[in-house]
Amino acid sequence: MRGIILSGGAATRLRPCTKVTSKQLLPVYNRPMIYYPLNTLIKAGIKEILIIVSPERAGDYLNLLGSGKDFGVKFTYEIQDKPGGLAEAFIIGENFIDEEDVTMILGDNIFEDDFTDEIKNFKKGGKVFAKEVHDPERFGVVKFDKNMKVIEIKEKPQEWVSSHALTGLYIFDQRVVEIAKNLQPSPRGELEITDIQNWYLQKGELDMAMVKGDWIDAGTFDSLLEAQNLAKNKLQDKLII
Ligand code: TTP
Repeated sequence: MRGIILSGGAATRLRPCTKVTSKQLLPVYNRPMIYYPLNTLIKAGIKEILIIVSPERAGDYLNLLGSGKDFGVKFTYEIQDKPGGLAEAFIIGENFIDEEDVTMILGDNIFEDDFTDEIKNFKKGGKVFAKEVHDPERFGVVKFDKNMKVIEIKEKPQEWVSSHALTGLYIFDQRVVEIAKNLQPSPRGELEITDIQNWYLQKGELDMAMVKGDWIDAGTFDSLLEAQNLAKNKLQDKLII
């Protein structure tokens, strides 16, 4: 299993704090934000991790994280020239993924749960993780039946579809690279991860599990504040880095 942290993006919602630095380098209590998703991958036993960053901030990430030796893993870096969507990560990561399965986590997503078993037991297809939220219109949302079988996935729906958001952690088999390469940009000009999920869904190969503990997408000032408190009050003893 390979790991990817997607840590580019424009972070317009956190301006002016992100004018001269990257969102995922901002402090979340006592660590840079990216330490939390990195912790999720390293704790799950992933040893090879690709960090995708924007060109302006690449040097800062190298200075902060280095080769990975200090964390007992190996980091590879790639540049995303401009924010072309989450699914673009699998095209940028083609050589890195090679013939392996891949777990991708977003650099601003902070989880309380431990995903070691989910990642170690992954066999084939795609796996996504959902959480009930009060603001589903901010996310990709998932509708499912009483057996947790996924029926529909929609990106940022304006009309209510479901209160369950798909969180920023995804596991796919190596087919994800070819699927991503065949995507067309959405009307907002991005390669959408929802389209990848729907590809696996149509094949009957998309699995879903619920996130049990807290989950925060720290991309707004309010959610960043929540993340600080979560990190201080609940995450300190779960961090190995
Ligand atoms: P978003 O929060 O959707 O986008 P953003 O970080 O650019 O912020 P804003 O909407 O405020 O302008 O992105 C989710 C995560 O994915 C975040 O960690 C940034 C990352 N990302 C990329 O690395 N590349 C991309 O092309 C996109 C769309 C996001």
